[in-house]
Amino acid sequence: MKALMCNEFGPIENLKYEDVPDLEPGEGEVIIEVKAASVNFPDVLVVQNLYQFKPALPFAPGNEVAGVVSKLGEGVEGVSVGDRVFSSGGFGGFAQQYRAAATSVTKMPEAMPYDEAAALMMVYGTSHHALKQRAELKPGETLLVLGASGGVGLAAVELGKAMGATVIAATSSQEKVDYCLANGADKGFVYARNPLDRDQQKALSAQIKEATGGRGADVIYDPVGDDYAEPALRAIAWKGRYLVVGFAAGDIPKIPLNLALLKGCQIVGVFWGMFTGVEKALHEENVAELLEWYTAGKIKPRVSAHYPLKDGLQALRDMSDRKVKGKVVITP
Ligand SMILES: NC(=O)c1ccc[n+]([C@@H]2O[C@H](COP(=O)([O-])OP(=O)(O)OC[C@H]3O[C@@H](n4cnc5c(N)ncnc54)[C@H](OP(=O)(O)O)[C@@H]3O)[C@@H](O)[C@H]2O)c1
Repeated sequence: MKALMCNEFGPIENLKYEDVPDLEPGEGEVIIEVKAASVNFPDVLVVQNLYQFKPALPFAPGNEVAGVVSKLGEGVEGVSVGDRVFSSGGFGGFAQQYRAAATSVTKMPEAMPYDEAAALMMVYGTSHHALKQRAELKPGETLLVLGASGGVGLAAVELGKAMGATVIAATSSQEKVDYCLANGADKGFVYARNPLDRDQQKALSAQIKEATGGRGADVIYDPVGDDYAEPALRAIAWKGRYLVVGFAAGDIPKIPLNLALLKGCQIVGVFWGMFTGVEKALHEENVAELLEWYTAGKIKPRVSAHYPLKDGLQALRDMSDRKVKGKVVITP
């Protein structure tokens, strides 16, 4: 089969489109013929050895696929050859075949296309867990989303609306703000591209205050970190919840803890991958709710571009160059 391989850690440009042996399932595993694999920011990090998990070399990045089950390992129950499924976790998605634990696959709703199935779980799973269990977002509250046109950001916008919040989208360009408004955000504004100087940081706090009528945001969803985090936290409402989701802008910020005291707020970590393992039953409830909302048309993965597997590197380039809107998908 063909795969986009990482043979040594380093720049994404080192990835090679090449032939590798077909996969066989181990006990409790299935092989999926991949129809679509979505790209997530951790794919950009993992090949550079900048992610919290380090796969054994060589490997294909890509941890979220949708396709058709083609082989079953020993002891697999509840999954059959020919099932249309999606799966996330692990590595190896940017390839024609993907090996998954049978327990990690979910059957696709009948009318769901493969690209949407591949683009659902990681971003909606993360943002749903963040807003529901970590922030306990309530109807009528204001939700500010940084990096709102990106994968987890746009999912947070849609889910925030589905949960009854007023959603404010903050991004680095007017085009991205317009994309968020077209996909459900109530308001939006443009922030400067990092590094932000002092005035740009103050301007970001002021924009959040202005968009919330001076109150500050009840919940702030932050997948970007770096220079954006502290000015955003300075504009959180009394008893607000600040969600630490990721650091796409580069550095992990260091926050003066007096801000938490002054705002009476919570700074709350979000680690969806860990949550899915440690709180399996709750995760399964979340998945069921997301599929229900998908079927009811409350949420819909926004796939803005498709790349053939041989051009998969370009998808990763576009993501690290901040060019992606919503989700992008690789189609072997
Ligand atoms: N905590 C968890 O469980 C969890 C789960 C999934 C993902 N994540 C993390 O969430 C973050 C976003 O992931 P994603 O898949 O949604 O990525 P994405 O689609 O690329 O979105 C990231 C957004 O960050 C902004 N950004 C700011 N500086 C950037 C830079 N230097 N390079 C790229 N983007 C930059 C961009 O928006 P603007 O241009 O508008 O600023 C971009 O749209 C990543 O750090 C990822 O590791 C965390």
